[in-house]
Amino acid sequence: MIKIKVENLTHKYPDGTQALNGVNIDVVEGEFLAILGANGSGKTTLLKHFNGLLKPASGSIVLDNKELNESKSADVFRKVGMVFQDPNDQLIAPTVEEDVAFGPTNLNLSYDEIISRVNDALGLVKMKEFAKKAIHALSYGQSKRICIAGILAMKPEILILDEPTSGLDPEGVKTVMKILDDLNKEHGITIILATNSVDLVPVLMDRVAIMDRGVIVQEGTPREVFTDSGKLEGLKLELPQIAQLMEALRDEEKFPINSLPLTIGQARQELSHLINIVDSVKHAGSILPGY
Ligand SMILES: Nc1ncnc2c1ncn2[C@@H]1O[C@H](COP(=O)(O)OP(=O)(O)OP(=O)(O)O)[C@@H](O)[C@H]1O
Ligand SMILES: [Mg+2]
Repeated sequence: MIKIKVENLTHKYPDGTQALNGVNIDVVEGEFLAILGANGSGKTTLLKHFNGLLKPASGSIVLDNKELNESKSADVFRKVGMVFQDPNDQLIAPTVEEDVAFGPTNLNLSYDEIISRVNDALGLVKMKEFAKKAIHALSYGQSKRICIAGILAMKPEILILDEPTSGLDPEGVKTVMKILDDLNKEHGITIILATNSVDLVPVLMDRVAIMDRGVIVQEGTPREVFTDSGKLEGLKLELPQIAQLMEALRDEEKFPINSLPLTIGQARQELSHLINIVDSVKHAGSILPGY
């Protein structure tokens, strides 16, 4: 089922910058979609249209079969939660628990329901023990997790995240991506994530849309989109690092690789397979008469 339908969407900022030039995309219920693109390609501008924070200059966005501009903001905010690129744009309350409680409080929920949602959301991002901590005293990675918790406490159907892993250490990236994977797979939340980190995309995401100068120029599964480096160069992007290595082995060292591995797991499988072939050829050679 199509959850969000975007048609011919354009956006012009007040200073005249034409940031979106006719975006078309369908977001399917339950999918984990990556919006990939170089700096300034229009990712943040597009995401801010999904929950009505920015209004289109032309074109339309339909959420659950209803034009977004005909829906009440409160209904849209309840359905579509957005985690901003910069945690400082999002965190407003003095302490962690007050901040996470902010959204549910505005939904006019009962006190018990608010407490339970705050606990659950902090549990999901593994930050329960930080409930009383002052927001200003959190590390950058911790504050990113609290931003996610604040949105989860609203129980959105669609979770939109703008560069959720930028500025995180490798452990932080793994933790946040594991949280998102669980939310998508276990809790059925539709996730749209903007990133310029190509390495993450094939590991977790079902589909990727590449933006360039305010339009979506390619769309498909990671396997369909990440076929060769040449295609991505003009978009100021590159293949995932492991795919670059495998591409060099295929094209320069003439390794017989048919479909380009995009993740460490796939590359490991392909290399084991190739080593097994070499071993069996060697072994076969040693038992052939005359060799
Ligand atoms: N508030 C604004 N006023 C004017 N122009 C803006 C504004 N915000 C963004 N832009 C411009 O719109 C274009 C798209 O910006 P956007 O922030 O959507 O890109 P992005 O893909 O999210 O980039 P990044 O990877 O750097 O986050 C850029 O040319 C940018 O300069
Ligand atoms: Mg951005």
